[in-house]
Amino acid sequence: MTYYTPQAVPLYGPDYAADPHAVYDRLRQYGPVAPVEISPGVTAYLVIGYRAALDLLRDTETWSKDSRAWQQTVPPDCPVLPMLGWRPNVLFNDGEVHARYRSVITDGFSLVEPHELRRRTIRAADELIREFAGAGEADLVSQYARPLPLVLFNALFGMPEHDSPRLVAALAGMMEARGPEEATAAGAEFERYVLELVALKQRQRGDDLASWFMEHPAGLEPEEVVHQIVLTMGAGHEPTSNLVSNALSRMLSNPDYYGSLTGGALTALDAVNDVLRHEPPMANYSAHFPRHNVRFHGTWIHANQLVLVSYAAANTAPDGLPPGVDRADGGAHLAWSAGPHSCPVKQPALLIATTAIERLTGHLCDLELTVPRERLSWRPGPFHRALAQLPARFSPISPDQAGVTPWSNASPSSSTPQDRTRSPRPPVSEPTARPSA
Ligand code: HEM
Repeated sequence: MTYYTPQAVPLYGPDYAADPHAVYDRLRQYGPVAPVEISPGVTAYLVIGYRAALDLLRDTETWSKDSRAWQQTVPPDCPVLPMLGWRPNVLFNDGEVHARYRSVITDGFSLVEPHELRRRTIRAADELIREFAGAGEADLVSQYARPLPLVLFNALFGMPEHDSPRLVAALAGMMEARGPEEATAAGAEFERYVLELVALKQRQRGDDLASWFMEHPAGLEPEEVVHQIVLTMGAGHEPTSNLVSNALSRMLSNPDYYGSLTGGALTALDAVNDVLRHEPPMANYSAHFPRHNVRFHGTWIHANQLVLVSYAAANTAPDGLPPGVDRADGGAHLAWSAGPHSCPVKQPALLIATTAIERLTGHLCDLELTVPRERLSWRPGPFHRALAQLPARFSPISPDQAGVTPWSNASPSSSTPQDRTRSPRPPVSEPTARPSA
């Protein structure tokens, strides 16, 4: 049997980050399965056809999520291992082991009532907005979209409110570390946080996800609980942040949204759906490994070779259609993946993202970007579609009370007509009173 190894196309670096779709278009010459390099020296196949992606994601007999054999082929300090290295959690296991872990997560989230999730999201959003509302300008990535899911998870998993800055700092440190030492220190802090959380809930259960994970009839051992919490927080944080910031960047730069932010024609959910289809927060993931050598949609692939699915490429130009031509099935997309490992927390994640956007644009009703969308920079890396910053300005507002409805001016809802909510914008540098927390 001969295997043709064509030139792998890099999925990292500034060119890819600046215009990933140009790279996907280039990859289409190979058909639905294309050779890529996800980090210097680490090659993979990328499934870029919609039909091929579904075939892979649903065929658990051929494809496994177990990365252990592949992992032996890369150095232990390989930079993609944090995303791909095997762990005893829901993401890297198959069959019954997977189903057991997954039931704990889906059943746990099903106990969070939507109105309670909305209330807690609003509380997390207000806490963050309060920090910058008086300044008249903010980076909506580092000051809002990135910390928001973590402030929320801190509450949902049952940690005291004062611990949320620790969680935010640890994950920011892991993501923005300037070197391996900083990354290791931040990773150790995250681990300490989760171990403390589990110890706290072992002493005293509460109405929270960590306690429900422990109480679940699947009977997870404490170490298994730790792994599912780490995975759930990690899997929830990055894509939810990206969903919020990518949607905000579209809303604030497109007159169809911008003109109607406070006018009611297009909603936050429209922007979210737009992102899910055209700019999925996870661009390429669903790492799979064939259990045996396989010919898949015209390409021979060795057993245990790394194969990723490009939700971004598959969504936008599926098999048989030229780039730019949409499928007839309208809104169908793979942003949540598909098959047994598809995101188990879709509905809560949608509620969190839309609530976070509505809360921000409701309070800061004349929010606008200070850098045009085409000039925004994106974090490099093969897996996520993540803005590096989202600088914005707005008329400063100040809260009159910490907590539930913290704003001294009327809180305009996103359906309030724009001409009634807009007031002349003071210059960004105008001195303003900072809100008291
Ligand atoms: C509260 C927020 C979220 C939580 C807690 C969460 C949790 C999870 C978990 C536990 C998995 C693993 C499922 C399994 O292996 O069976 C998963 C998978 C996935 N999630 Fe989410 N998620 C969240 C938000 C999102 C968002 C906003 C997106 C993007 C739109 C997303 C996209 C995905 C994708 C593509 C997968 C499949 C990954 C793979 O198989 O490699 N998730 N999610």
